[in-house]
Amino acid sequence: MLVGGFGTRLQPLTLSTPKQMLPIIDRPMIERVLGSLNAHGVTDAVLALGYRPDAFLDAYPDGHCAGVELHYAVESEPLDTAGAVRFAALSGGIDDTFIVVNGDVLTDLDLTELWNFHKGHDAEGTIALTPVDDPSRYGVVPTADDGRVLEFVEKPAPGTAPTNWINAGTYILEASVLDRIADGRRVSIERETFPAMVAERSLYALHSDAYWIDAGTPVTYLDSQLDLIDGVRGSAERAVHETATILQGAVIDHSVVMAGVVVESGAVIRNSVLLPGSRIGADAHVLHSVIGAGAEVGAGSEVLDYTVVGNSRDVPAGVRLEGARVPEGS
Ligand code: GTP
Repeated sequence: MLVGGFGTRLQPLTLSTPKQMLPIIDRPMIERVLGSLNAHGVTDAVLALGYRPDAFLDAYPDGHCAGVELHYAVESEPLDTAGAVRFAALSGGIDDTFIVVNGDVLTDLDLTELWNFHKGHDAEGTIALTPVDDPSRYGVVPTADDGRVLEFVEKPAPGTAPTNWINAGTYILEASVLDRIADGRRVSIERETFPAMVAERSLYALHSDAYWIDAGTPVTYLDSQLDLIDGVRGSAERAVHETATILQGAVIDHSVVMAGVVVESGAVIRNSVLLPGSRIGADAHVLHSVIGAGAEVGAGSEVLDYTVVGNSRDVPAGVRLEGARVPEGS
């Protein structure tokens, strides 16, 4: 599981907490990803760690999480996606078919189907594909009728993508893929390893329209949680934690309110996520925004349009923020 990135798009939240340790409603993102893997029979995972590894080691001191036994591989410097896969797989003693997942993808992909497809095609590697409306931010993957990957187009210019099916960040790989990855330097699996496999006709892909979201941006970090309280992925999850205090006259609308949050009277919270222990002052408005753990929004402030307030940061009373990062520039 790749969990070593800096998570720059989710700064300032990721300045203090690595992305996969950020909460998704009631538990860290990594627990949801590992839980989905475990539901398909995965019992062991090597975490490819780099940025802030201690956060993971401290959270799971006995090496177990969501039914999965954890093994840790800590890079001394970032090796990029393929370099990290090689380093982690070799550290974990992997010498047979294995699964790679991006730790920030929340999905209901049928992993068992992906595995069976991979074995059925005698592929060296098989990647899951998901459809998106605008593929220009992603790796786009056209295939032949039998699922063989024809091309791997990383971040095509808008309007030029040959298909809207993108790399969904879950792969089944044979151990031979590890030999393709250079040792000890940065290697991108999307830019180097997969294109080389395409050239040798050994890479396959399975189309899946199961639920899929890359929770790595403010918009998707928020949406991934609203989907859960909306019941998009099964029964609706509880939106307001039982230990939160909502004072009379406050309005909570279509939002996630985590443990220990206090929302004072007259405040309006809409389409937003309030992380544990945050506090929203009287008459403040928080719309389409994320408030970090222990952060405080002052009375009467307006926090709007995908503003992200960092953990333990304060928004003064009476200010208006639109699409802002607090602290500024983070
Ligand atoms: P941004 O900085 O916002 O792009 O996020 P990111 O650093 O997480 O990068 P990205 O979302 O593109 O990475 C995809 C997955 O690979 C994530 O789960 C990352 O944690 C992980 N990842 C990216 N680079 C590395 C790396 O050098 N080493 C390791 N171990 N994991 C990485």
